Order: sequence, then structure tokens, then C-alpha cells
Amino acid sequence: MWAVILEEYGNSEVLQLKEIPNLEPERGEVRVQVHASALNRADIEQRKGNYPPPTPSEHEIPGLEFAGVVDKLGAEVSNWRIGDRVFGLLSAGGYAEQVLTHERMLMPIPPNLTFEQAAAIPEVFFTAYDALTDKANFQAGDTVLIHAGASGVGIAAIQLARVMGASLILTTSRTNWKLEKCRALGATYTINTAEAEFDRVVLDATASRGVDIILDFVGAEYLEKNLNAAALGGRIVQIATLSGSSTQINLQKVLSKRLRLQGTTLRSRPFEQKMTLTQTFAKQILPLFVDGKIKPLIDRSFQLKDVAEAHRYMEDNSNVGKIVLTIASKE
Ligand SMILES: NC(=O)c1ccc[n+]([C@@H]2O[C@H](COP(=O)([O-])OP(=O)(O)OC[C@H]3O[C@@H](n4cnc5c(N)ncnc54)[C@H](OP(=O)(O)O)[C@@H]3O)[C@@H](O)[C@H]2O)c1
Repeated sequence: MWAVILEEYGNSEVLQLKEIPNLEPERGEVRVQVHASALNRADIEQRKGNYPPPTPSEHEIPGLEFAGVVDKLGAEVSNWRIGDRVFGLLSAGGYAEQVLTHERMLMPIPPNLTFEQAAAIPEVFFTAYDALTDKANFQAGDTVLIHAGASGVGIAAIQLARVMGASLILTTSRTNWKLEKCRALGATYTINTAEAEFDRVVLDATASRGVDIILDFVGAEYLEKNLNAAALGGRIVQIATLSGSSTQINLQKVLSKRLRLQGTTLRSRPFEQKMTLTQTFAKQILPLFVDGKIKPLIDRSFQLKDVAEAHRYMEDNSNVGKIVLTIASKE
């Protein structure tokens, strides 16, 4: 099979297609012929050598998600049949014609979704769902601030907060045209952080109360303002640190507002937790995709052979929503 193998780390040109032996499923595993995968920021860090996969393997292949068709079953697989349309989350390996995964890590692709749409779901929707529910203990009626609202995770979080009953959804971006897309998906207020201090806008919009939940990807530059923008008992979930990770904060605000600052990483979680998240997501959230109440948002698709161009596009911050890789088998 053909796959993008990282033989060295560096700029996008290190992403090269290579032919390697077909994968063989072991007990409980399923082999999937991949039709689409998608990019995540983590892939860029992995390509640069800053984010190795949790379980090293013979070939280092980036790619945290896939959608395709079951084409071989390991022993004792009981829930899937050859030909089933499936998708799911991976720790690595999605930029390839085949992936192997445990049967409990698979979800059925809803009939109304294409392979490209399904591949755009797992990493960002799992992250947003887990951040809102498990990490931030979301309750209907909560007010939510979602930074980088037009990012893949941001777009998932806006839609989930809307269907779960948030009373107010505020989002930020540094670009006005991206904020328009956030409003179309359900954001109530949008804030251009290049033009306004977001903590002041949040306090104005909430009659000085602040918001119950903040999902933050920016880190150092935003933390102090996040503390200002949080309501009494607010929960701040740190999902990334795009502006840096070291800063000084005023702990008095954390104390007096009884705030919770919670970090999260999905890829390094124990396998059992990822299986549980997959099963919970399939039960609670997948039906909302079937009904069309939530939609994956694809910014642009590239063929697997053009993966270097896709990485450059993400590094330019040009995307609103997901950048998808389509994979046509070479065999
Ligand atoms: N912890 C986890 O488990 C987990 C899981 C998934 C993703 N993540 C992380 O979450 C982040 C978003 O991922 P994604 O795939 O959704 O990314 P994405 O679609 O590429 O969007 C990232 C957006 O962040 C904004 N941004 C970038 N640098 C910034 C900076 N210095 N200051 C303010 N905003 C900045 C940009 O939006 P504007 O141009 O609109 O400002 C950019 O479009 C990434 O850092 C990713 O690694 C973490």
C-alpha cells in the first residue's frame, strides 16, 4: 500500500509517498481501505519532529482520522462486515491507503455523509465534545466563549454548544471573514481580537457576569483576559497554546472567582478512554449528523499526493474548517 512516510523531520517537502507492505489485522482489529483522511495542526508539529506518536511503529505515518471501507477482519471481530462504511480516530497512520484499528474504535458513516465529510469529524468533534462535557461540565443554559472559532475544533464546538443548549455563544478570530462563518454556524457574538479586547466585549455582552465556559487554543496571550472574562465558578479548558505556553497570571482572580483551569490532550490518552469516547460519541452525537443538526465543515480537499501543499495551506491559517485528503487506491 501507499502511505506518507516521515523518514526525516522538517518543512512540508519531507512528506513523501512511499510503498510499504499491506497491513494485516490482528485479533480484534479491522483493516480499512481509506478513502479520505484530514489534516490537524498536530500533523504539522509531528512533521517538524515536535510531536511523536504515542506508540512508535516501523513507519511513522501522520494522520489522526480516516473514513473508508472495511476490507479485512482480524480474529474475533464481531461488529463489522467487509464492505461496511466506517470512520474513526487514530493516534497516527491516517495518511495512507490502509489503516488498522480496534473494532471498538470504529463508527458507521451516516448514510447522508460522504467519506470526505466523515473524515472531517473525529479529531475536532471528539476534542470539542470532550472539552465541553467531560472537562467543562457543560449544562444547558451555560454561556460559552470559544476562541479561534473558525478553527476545526472551534467550528465543532460552536455547533455542539448550540445543539446542547448554550444560552450565549461568543467566538473570537483575528479575521472578520472567518467570524461571518462562525455566526452562520450559531455563534451569537463574534469578536475580532485584532480590533477589540475580548474580555471587555464578553463582560459587555453578559452584563458584567462573564461566561461559564471558555475553550482556549491560544494560551499565553489570552490567559489573563480569560480570567477576566470568566464568570464566578467558570471553567477554562486549555486545548492548545498557539501563542506560547509561558505567562504570569494573577492567581487572586482564580481564587476569588473560584475558577477551574483544565488542560486536555486527546492523542496521548489511554486506549480504553478513547474507545469509551468513541462509543459515547457514536451514541450521543452521531444521530445529530444524520438529522443534519450538526455538519462537518470542509474548507478544501487535496489528493494525498498533494499533502505537502495541504500542509502549507494550513500553516498559512487560510482555512475555515477542515482540510481533507482524498485517497484513491493506486492498486
Ligand atoms: N488538546 C487536544 O487534544 C487537541 C485536539 C485537537 C486540536 N488541538 C489543537 O487545537 C488547535 C486548533 O486545531 P485545529 O485543527 O482546529 O486548527 P485550525 O483549523 O488550523 O485553526 C487554528 C486557528 O487558530 C488561530 N490561531 C493560530 N495561531 C494563533 C495565535 N498565535 N493567536 C491567536 N489565534 C491563533 C487561527 O485562527 P484565526 O486566524 O481565526 O485567528 C487558526 O486558523 C491546534 O493548536 C491543535 O493542535 C488540540
